[in-house]
Order: sequence, then structure tokens, then C-alpha cells
Amino acid sequence: MSNIIKNNFLSVHDVTDIEALVQKALHYKANPFADKQLGANKRIGLLFLNPSLRTRLSTQVAAQNLGMEPIVFNVDKEGWALEFEEGAIMSGSTVEHVKDAAPILGNYFDILAIRTFPSLKNREDDYSEMFISQFIKYAGVPVISLESATLHPLQSLTDVITIQEQMHGAAEASIANRPKVVLTWAPHVKPLPQCVANSFSQWMTAWGKVDFVIAHPEDYELDEQFTKGATIMHDQKKALEGADFVYVKNWSTFNDYGKIYENDPRWMLTEEHLQLTNNARVMHCLPVRRNVELSDEVLDSSNSIVTQQASNRVWAAQAVISEILSR
Ligand code: CP
Repeated sequence: MSNIIKNNFLSVHDVTDIEALVQKALHYKANPFADKQLGANKRIGLLFLNPSLRTRLSTQVAAQNLGMEPIVFNVDKEGWALEFEEGAIMSGSTVEHVKDAAPILGNYFDILAIRTFPSLKNREDDYSEMFISQFIKYAGVPVISLESATLHPLQSLTDVITIQEQMHGAAEASIANRPKVVLTWAPHVKPLPQCVANSFSQWMTAWGKVDFVIAHPEDYELDEQFTKGATIMHDQKKALEGADFVYVKNWSTFNDYGKIYENDPRWMLTEEHLQLTNNARVMHCLPVRRNVELSDEVLDSSNSIVTQQASNRVWAAQAVISEILSR
């Protein structure tokens, strides 16, 4: 019986001991099949309302490492169009209400894992997390977020694992002890959710083992509920000074919701920016728009740890599934 994760995995608030969860993930990285029997005769349903490469495949690998059968369902392409609004008169394009579909899925699967996305049109709706909340309400089995409207907890757990690994392996004292981690906004061609930035901020501040700075142009403030405890700067170059880790990510505006205001190409992370840092390790959740968010020279340099980071998605997912199976 384990209590590191509460019933569901939706945010850092569902984790009682981040350090223990990170250690568990690193244990699986060293011993992928250590708990091959834990998931025997159990199934996890992976529901995607949006595209994915890393989340989909790493979660399948993680489940199989635990002897569990993963079944992927691309709800957006292969399922009936779902209705989420309570009391809706379903005379439009939606065919099936989540309150009818979710209990059936709860009977098919021992765990449900779900990826939704925000509309980026209505902030109140997105930040109420209506989609994933409805599945939790009606499925009757534990739910893992594979990215919701506002957060991406498996990505953030992966990011903590990756930073922790680098801290352990570092010769430099500043990295090994209390590194400076900078999350910097970068330009993009279309409005993206705030999920990864919200979630990374939430996990960095909760973890508490780093000095955490967020750099973004004015007007790109994130929701304060996720950034409390971080230092926020609008001068990217100043923020990058002495950084040990730089996490690059675009997000659209939060206040005037879901817009692109300024898209200054000078915020793209280049070799020139890296010169300001403490030879920083560079992170990105991927997929990345090369030469828009990050230059080729940075992504292809030895400073980039994006492949290690994405590979660690397996161990994060495996630790979370294992904890839920052990409850
Ligand atoms: N980082 C991430 O979630 O990647 P995918 O969208 O490919 O799953």
C-alpha cells in the first residue's frame, strides 16, 4: 500500500512526496521490469481528444513495463462527439454525453488516462477543467491527466526527474546544490495553451530545490495561482544571467485570453542568449518549432537535454501508474 499519490494524478497537489516519486521513477529507469507483475490482468485506457507523440507512446511503454495492457482510443477522430455540459439539449453536433460514456469506460478499465486541451476561447471554461472533471465525476476509477486544459503534470514530473538527474551528475557546485532554473517564453506561430508553463511553475515552486525565475514579455503573465513563489522578470537577458537550466516554452496570453500579442523574434533562444548563462542545460517539452522558439545551433548543441528529457517521460508515467496500482 502506497500513499505517494492520492486517488487521481491531475496536478502536484495530488502528490504527497515529490522526492519519493522522483526516486521511484529513477528506480524504474535503472530497473524497467522490476514490477512486471504489478499490472497483470489490468488495463489502462488512454483517451486522446488531441494529438500526441511522447505522452501517448511513453505511457503505453510504461504500462507495459508494469505488465499492464494499455488501450488507446482517439476520441476526437474515432469516437462519438462528446457532450460535457450538464443539462445540455443535445440537438446539435454532440452525440453522447460524458455522463453516459464515462461509467462504461470505468467498467472497461482499471485506470483512465485522458488528454484534453483548452479551447483558448473561454478562460472560465478552460480553467474550470470541465472535461477532465466530468470524467473523474462519472468514471469511478482513478484518472491520470495526460495534459488537461491548464496543466501537464506528467511532463512536469519528467522535468523534475531530468533536473534532479543533472544535479546528481554535475561537477559544478552551483548545479549540484541549488541551481538557477529559468522558464523563458519564446515566440510561436499560433496561440498555445499555458499548460506546460503553469505546470512547470507549480512543480518547481512545490519542489523547492531550485531558484526559479520566469521570463516573459509584458502581457504574458500566467495565472498567479501557479507562479506564487517564482521571481518574474520581463528582461529576458537579465533573467538568463547565471542560469543553470533554461526551459523554453511559448504560451498565449492569460489575461486577454488565448491571444498572441507581441511575438518578438528576439525572444527566440540562440547561442548568444546561452552565453549569458552558466553553460545552461536547455530544456523544452517538445514538439518544438525550430528557428522560431529555439535556434538549430542550440537544439543541436551539447547544452540541449531535450532528448533525455523526453525519454524520461516513460519513467514518470511508470512511477505514477505504479503508485496508483499500489494503492
Ligand atoms: N510534450 C508532450 O506532451 O508531447 P506530445 O504532445 O507529443 O505528447
